[in-house]
Amino acid sequence: MCGIVGAVAKRDVVPVLVEGLRRLEYRGYDSCGVAVLQDGKPQRARSVARVADLAAQVAESGLTGETAVAHTRWATHGAPVTHNAHPIFSRDEIALVHNGIIENHESLREELRGQGYEFVSQTDTEVIAHLIHVLLQGAAAGDLFKAVRLATKRLHGAYAIAVFRKQEPHVVVGARAGSPLVVGLGNGENFLASDALALAGTTDQFIYLEEGDVVELRLNGVQIVDRHDAPATREVRTVHAYSGAVELGPYRHYMQKEIFEQPRAIGDTMEGVEGITPELFGENAEGVFKQIDSVLILACGTSYYSGLTAKYWLESLAQVPTSVEVASEYRYRDSVPNPKTLVVTISQSGETADTMAALQHAQSLGQAHTLAICNVGTSAMVRETALHYLTRAGTEIGVASTKAFTTQLTALFLLTLTLAKLRGRLTAAQEAEHLKQLRHLPAALNSVLALEPQIIAWADDFARRENALFLGRGLHYPIALEGALKLKEISYIHAEAYPAGELKHGPLALVTDEMPVVTIAPNDALVEKLKSNMQEVRARGGQLYVFADADSNIQNDEGVHVIRMPEHYGQLSPILHTVPLQLLAYHTACARGTDVDKPRNLAKSVTVE
Ligand code: G6P
Repeated sequence: MCGIVGAVAKRDVVPVLVEGLRRLEYRGYDSCGVAVLQDGKPQRARSVARVADLAAQVAESGLTGETAVAHTRWATHGAPVTHNAHPIFSRDEIALVHNGIIENHESLREELRGQGYEFVSQTDTEVIAHLIHVLLQGAAAGDLFKAVRLATKRLHGAYAIAVFRKQEPHVVVGARAGSPLVVGLGNGENFLASDALALAGTTDQFIYLEEGDVVELRLNGVQIVDRHDAPATREVRTVHAYSGAVELGPYRHYMQKEIFEQPRAIGDTMEGVEGITPELFGENAEGVFKQIDSVLILACGTSYYSGLTAKYWLESLAQVPTSVEVASEYRYRDSVPNPKTLVVTISQSGETADTMAALQHAQSLGQAHTLAICNVGTSAMVRETALHYLTRAGTEIGVASTKAFTTQLTALFLLTLTLAKLRGRLTAAQEAEHLKQLRHLPAALNSVLALEPQIIAWADDFARRENALFLGRGLHYPIALEGALKLKEISYIHAEAYPAGELKHGPLALVTDEMPVVTIAPNDALVEKLKSNMQEVRARGGQLYVFADADSNIQNDEGVHVIRMPEHYGQLSPILHTVPLQLLAYHTACARGTDVDKPRNLAKSVTVE
């Protein structure tokens, strides 16, 4: 959601910025733009189409410059139209890009109007540009770095910004509070970006700014001040951001590529796991895990569903009471804090605003034992939690999460086994068996991926529908939720998931011969009950699409379409059953011709509330 790139150099940086925006496209956006200091003043190009369109405009207009900022915008305040696209100017002197939301924009706007500023956009961003401008005339006395430091003191909300002004060539100032921003260090040139990936190939030396930092980029160095306006030194890290992550290879979409990467991603997530030990989660994990009496999981979207799955594992295998909460709800409701709970945040990006705020809220209630399961090691979430487990899914570009989910499940299963072992609920033989099955997962996933042709045949049917129901029981209910989420996100088919036992308490009223009902039917303790639920659907004419085990005795029949799952290990079955649901959503979306990797209205990293 929103992306920033900025640069100062002794060469034309427009190509670097446009390429950076292209690499940030995956975060989700609906307009984009670039501004440069050219012929002594800011000049810009903006587009409400794709970055490719912006690139064409830039080439045509001959926009070049050595001081520049660029942006992909995901509209919050003001529609995605050209005059709201960033960079936003103040008095043709300042060019500014912004991620996040300024909560006090209305009062600032009034104040600035009173000082003679005219607003030409509906964005909250424009108040920052004018605020910096007014400060430059007064307290900041013509010093952009100082003006930004003063301006950020007046801003409430979450943001990252990058800005330059016409009077200070080769200076770009950035600030971060709640939205990610990294500094890329070059030779006689320096850069800013929301994500190191944007600068892959340009530099591998990065500084991850901390909350409240303000940075000034010049050609020969950078200066940082912290939230108290004191000079700060930040570690320079070598990051080999993999630009290959943005290459599609033989795949039609990133989502398809990422679905097929899952055997590798899970193998990588398991790398180095020789046995079940608390150290997998950090040096002090054993002490923490011994003190806790429960688990509280906080997450959003797909990550929330991995948490729901983990609850089944944690309560059955480790016998640890577990609650799972949607982060955006938890952060605002009155809850009963328990200092002995382990707060687990789950996030692909590690920058989801609601999950970060929920974590901070949990901490503010005196719950200090925190653990992040996250795919981005440099993220704020990893920095702000005491313990963590990094999933190694690699960069996930498709907005609809796939490999991040199954690697999260892998990490959560390891957490379950660790807590079970510390509580004496895991024998050596059980540990060895679970580990064997975890190591077998990549091969098992390859067998599931081989079902793709059968799923494509189903997808043609689904593409003609406007509604679908997903049923699962027990461990597979959260997987049904995830399957329904995938379908609605990318194919725009209305899909709902229910625990199959709830059918007759409502959703059965929706079942007609027009309703496809996807059923996850592993041969577990609940399979006979599930078969009764399936009869209830068939009796109303519903069309069943069943993922069944070979030995579950569920056969193809009129209105009953069966895909047989390869043999699998019961406890890890949710991971395997996720994959055909991803493929079903993917091929249905392809058949409907939607923008699979960038579904309408959605963003990859939701960095605003
Ligand atoms: C967005 C994405 C989802 C993701 C959710 C949580 O809604 O589109 O795919 O599951 O954010 O993101 P996180 O990075 O915290 O896992």
